[in-house]
Amino acid sequence: MIDREAAERLLAEARTAAERAYAPYSGFPVGAAVLTADGTVITGANIENASYSLTICAERVAVFRAVMEGRRAIAAVAIWAARVRPCPPCGACRQVLNEWKPASDEMAVVMEGDEEARITTLSALLPHAFGPHDLAGIDDDA
Ligand code: THU
Repeated sequence: MIDREAAERLLAEARTAAERAYAPYSGFPVGAAVLTADGTVITGANIENASYSLTICAERVAVFRAVMEGRRAIAAVAIWAARVRPCPPCGACRQVLNEWKPASDEMAVVMEGDEEARITTLSALLPHAFGPHDLAGIDDDA
């Protein structure tokens, strides 16, 4: 799991990423930063749309960028929101994050706390998750 110093650094990256948010409808800018298994940090921010439901959260922007950069394992994600502390990932983002958990470790989830970063795990936020293993062994002909 991520150490405290790295968690604070990741949260700072998420905070900077929030400057790129496009949130004219909600007025709720969010930044996210993912730490990939090879130590790379990739950021995202929420991107809203005039057709409101097409909005994408900061976390998913960061995850999808990471995947397109060839990363397949995410060790940690940090989320920062200007107007709420801590800002937990929404349910949809928890599910998307679950797809990219490292094979043999927890995924750390870092949020802003009052004094210092709050560190938890994706498993704590999404127990009994539906994931890739649930589809393994499904008979294609069935
Ligand atoms: N939002 C995120 O980007 N991440 C979250 O975890 C919570 C919500 C965004 C979506 C929308 O643009 C705004 O925050 C208000 O819901």
